[in-house]
Amino acid sequence: MKRRSFLKVVSATGMMIAINPSMINQVLRADDGRLYKSYARVQLLNAEGTPMTEQMLETSENYVFNYPYEGTTTLLINLPNESAKDVSLKDEFGEAYLWKGGVGSRRTIVAYSGICPHQLTHINKKDSFITYRKKGERFEGHVVCDGHTSVYDPEHGCKVMKGKAPQPMASIVLEVGDDNTLYAVGVLGPDKYHEFFKSFRRELKEQFGSKRNAKKEVVSTAVAMRLSAYTQEVIQL
Ligand code: FES
Repeated sequence: MKRRSFLKVVSATGMMIAINPSMINQVLRADDGRLYKSYARVQLLNAEGTPMTEQMLETSENYVFNYPYEGTTTLLINLPNESAKDVSLKDEFGEAYLWKGGVGSRRTIVAYSGICPHQLTHINKKDSFITYRKKGERFEGHVVCDGHTSVYDPEHGCKVMKGKAPQPMASIVLEVGDDNTLYAVGVLGPDKYHEFFKSFRRELKEQFGSKRNAKKEVVSTAVAMRLSAYTQEVIQL
């Protein structure tokens, strides 16, 4: 998916202006309702340091990479089925945004923030209560946060299917480069990064040395590894 179109936004003076999403770094609401925040265009690498292509991603496997900050995780999945296109979603305040779908030859590759919008359960180096459920597992084909069993549909922008989560998981916008490698370029939908950094100071210090380290934006490259290699304990209830 290549997102090079310009967003139309209303400036502080009330004038309608057009901005290339790759050149901005703030939350924008586009005229089609997208809620989008641009970050650095970061190339995904596999655990060996090789630029990641679609073919390297095992179907239904849980992969994790740090984006858009060093201390925030993203769940990356190559779904078994083609994702939906242009899904209308709403945040908890009723603001609409449009999820365009997965990328890759079959539009099966999707990525979502590893922070649950219910009570901020999140994928971290010690444990993960958030997983994509493979065939044969409970809630097969869904992303589940076992903090309090919220169930999300990754084929439809991680909209909420069950549980107390008030809004979808934010999605990480991916692009496929000319050389067929994968990039993360921004975050679409309501993220919880601000609340996350406020709430988990001690954990971030333990895992990243300091909150400041954890809050550094990722630039250039990010390693996407299997969840089982990233975290000490994968928990499914
Ligand atoms: S924190 Fe995820 S369901 Fe409650």
